[in-house]
Amino acid sequence: MRENLFIALEGIDGSGKSTQAKLLSQRLISMGHKVYTTFEPTDSPIGSIIRNIMKGRINCDHKTIAGLFVADRLDHLLNEVNGIVKKIEEGYTVITDRYYFSSYAYHGTHMNMDWVINANAMSAEILRPDINIFIDVLPETSMERLNNNRSIIELYETLENLQNVREKYFEAFDKLKLEENIFITNGNLSLDEVSNNIWNEIEKILKREKSYA
Ligand code: ADP
Ligand code: TYD
Repeated sequence: MRENLFIALEGIDGSGKSTQAKLLSQRLISMGHKVYTTFEPTDSPIGSIIRNIMKGRINCDHKTIAGLFVADRLDHLLNEVNGIVKKIEEGYTVITDRYYFSSYAYHGTHMNMDWVINANAMSAEILRPDINIFIDVLPETSMERLNNNRSIIELYETLENLQNVREKYFEAFDKLKLEENIFITNGNLSLDEVSNNIWNEIEKILKREKSYA
């Protein structure tokens, strides 16, 4: 069993994913792990089309957006220069800010979720996260954080949509609870409390993997 983990952080916009990715990475590095942090949508050419859609510069149907995320995710995994698969093979623990559960929740809000899950089957086959960490914040709180910190509010960042997305996350977790390792943590707590709760869960996995090694 490998000791380097593949960790996916999930949550609605403004839930604290990128903040927690940084804190988790610092803890792992201080323990001697090699860590690679990454995110979706990626900064590849496909990711850049997606960001232009999110910012309202390109108009696109939700189904097309779902398809673009499938392609962006496969490149995220398989890219020969900095793909996740390569990083895992090199012994890095990879922390990604969003992975396929984001697609299930965000696109499942606008179309049949099973289609989205099936369309992402190749990614799940290539690499399933050792843990999907869902940082659960109230959509009202996340909208407040976004309004305080952002000059542009993006396509999916309305209170009503984030409420629907949060519900879809729970629907997806229920659907896939047998195949996926899912940890739900309260994101309405302070930065340090959220970070400690995530760390306790990661430590459990690390200890388990050590005892199998
Ligand atoms: P995401 O990556 O999920 O969009 P961020 O990590 O960028 O979220 O956090 C969004 C904003 O909320 C940032 O300004 C961040 O400092 C703040 N924030 C994150 N976590 C917390 C928390 N637990 N309590 C209060 N503010 C937070
Ligand atoms: P992101 O930059 O992570 O936004 P934030 O930091 O605010 O959480 O993601 C941009 C948007 O892309 C976000 O609204 C969620 C959406 N998204 C999807 O719709 N499908 C996906 O598969 C992913 C990964 C993201």
